[in-house]
Amino acid sequence: MPDSNRSGKVTVVGAGFYGSTTAQRLAEYDVFETVVLTDIVDGKPEGIALDLNQSRPVEGFETTVVGQTTSPDGAGYEASADSDVVIVTAGLPRKPGMSRMDLLEVNAKIVRGVAENIAKYSPNAVIIVVSNPLDEMTALTQLASQFPKERVFGQAGVLDTARFTNNVATALGVPVRSVQTLTLGSHGDTMVPVPSACFVDGRPLSEVMDQATIDQLVTRTRNGGAEIVALLKTGSAYYAPSAAAARMAKAVREGSGQVIPVCAWVDGQYGISGVYLGVEAEIGRGGVQRIVERDLTESELAALKEAAEAVRAKQADVADL
Ligand code: LAC
Repeated sequence: MPDSNRSGKVTVVGAGFYGSTTAQRLAEYDVFETVVLTDIVDGKPEGIALDLNQSRPVEGFETTVVGQTTSPDGAGYEASADSDVVIVTAGLPRKPGMSRMDLLEVNAKIVRGVAENIAKYSPNAVIIVVSNPLDEMTALTQLASQFPKERVFGQAGVLDTARFTNNVATALGVPVRSVQTLTLGSHGDTMVPVPSACFVDGRPLSEVMDQATIDQLVTRTRNGGAEIVALLKTGSAYYAPSAAAARMAKAVREGSGQVIPVCAWVDGQYGISGVYLGVEAEIGRGGVQRIVERDLTESELAALKEAAEAVRAKQADVADL
């Protein structure tokens, strides 16, 4: 008799800090049968997988982690075959002073190849993209995989919202669970923190903080990734990013219809069409079931439209990369 509801297969492409911590979180949830971790660095994913499997008796989970070295031509991708969910972390992280957009060309080449291999070996998967620049890499993954748009979406809103929530909770000295925040738009300069959707113990943020403090926390949220890159000096954040990506994969597996902010294909919502953009979406087993529109203030809506036009221009470029 099965001892749990453990089932399904999730693959994490890229065994850097982001990928390996994502694989760890997914394995520790103990809800997937198998977590596959791949990388092009020979032996690295196998080594991390063995290490994670050896933590199973201590942490008490049964999910098996499989490590597999791959090559850009697709060798090794058999190990990921028929995954239900694939998380793409492949690509380079930022260095201090770089914007996510500085990674566009180099990561486009890597992500395109990864997307083609995923499409070949896991034709029914839901793909969650986390490589940067996020909105562009999500669009490129959909183009290169030719998957239906609802089966490709990106991780940003869960992370940016978590950063916003942490900033507010820390500033007020309250538990993070008392705070609800939201960010939409791009995972970049045109990120749109949405103060009208932010509450502290049910009270609007504007009632518990003055506008100057809110503005300061909004700015810190928008620069949340860069702040960590500057401190680390090598590499970018991975604890909060991996938490966000792993929870999204779990939401797909559970198919609960949970509404979370993700980078999804927007087609008419908010008067915006034909672009991958950070919005709230209902997540099911097949990926994005529905984009959820909410009432925004005039300035929030204007900022979201501005974000859409900024990423639209860049997303048009990725087709040629
Ligand atoms: C960040 C990177 C992962 O925001 O995009 O930390």
